[in-house]
Amino acid sequence: MQRLALDARRGGKRIGVVPTMGFLHDGHASLIREARSQSDLVITTIFVNPLQFAPNEDFSRYPRDLERDTRIADEAGCDVLFTPTPEEMYPPGFDATISIGGVTAPFEGVFRPTHYDGVATVVAKLLTLTQADKAFFGQKDYQQCMVVKKLVRDLSMPHDIIVCPTQREADGLAMSSRNVYLSPENRTKATVLHKALQAAQTLIRAGERRRARIEALLSETILAESGFTIDYAAAADSMTLEQPSEAFAQEQGIVLLLAVRLGGTRLIDNLVV
Ligand code: PAF
Repeated sequence: MQRLALDARRGGKRIGVVPTMGFLHDGHASLIREARSQSDLVITTIFVNPLQFAPNEDFSRYPRDLERDTRIADEAGCDVLFTPTPEEMYPPGFDATISIGGVTAPFEGVFRPTHYDGVATVVAKLLTLTQADKAFFGQKDYQQCMVVKKLVRDLSMPHDIIVCPTQREADGLAMSSRNVYLSPENRTKATVLHKALQAAQTLIRAGERRRARIEALLSETILAESGFTIDYAAAADSMTLEQPSEAFAQEQGIVLLLAVRLGGTRLIDNLVV
């Protein structure tokens, strides 16, 4: 992979990379299309990264369908699919871990303490292997985007990180490979996440800056549906993820962050207001 990428760079090609864990959907396709519009060579990586799953998580049952992925990536304008095996990425003797601190600590960091070390480590490898000029990530994983930006900034890595808007189903549910786990009944219920985000956005736009009020509305809206447990339903500074003890300042951007569980499936979503 790296030899191909280095040859392309020497030939003056701009390389756009879309890192994924496969089971591609329209959200991934939109990232590939964006990469296509900004690059000469588009590489999509498909790798279900064992390092970012805790032992109790869904690594072994994570959905996989390489044939379908190949078709979707091809139609969206991908030139090269990079699909390494775990043994190729992490051969015997591989011991490195990248731990970037800071923004990895709150929210996902509380519920998935080893997750972002796994993400930072694999993304560093993928960007180096593919020699990415630009790498494209979906805003649906808001905190992950911040982690990846910090990774390249802290380690002076020469890649531009491009964050693209969350793609949603017609009823508002954020597209995710994990949506396939939802039963038909829970798939309908899951639309409440987007409704909660929109309700909180309306409240903020009407002038509410008190964090407790905003977060209460998020939680109440979700828990009005049966079957949900909430990991977090939070409002934070959109640039730092810090949370004021009382109220947001007028000029502060606010990101609303949700992580909930429904029938064994963990769903996340967010909205920047
Ligand atoms: O967002 C994902 O699919 C993964 O976390 C990523 C960025 C491909 C790293 O494994």
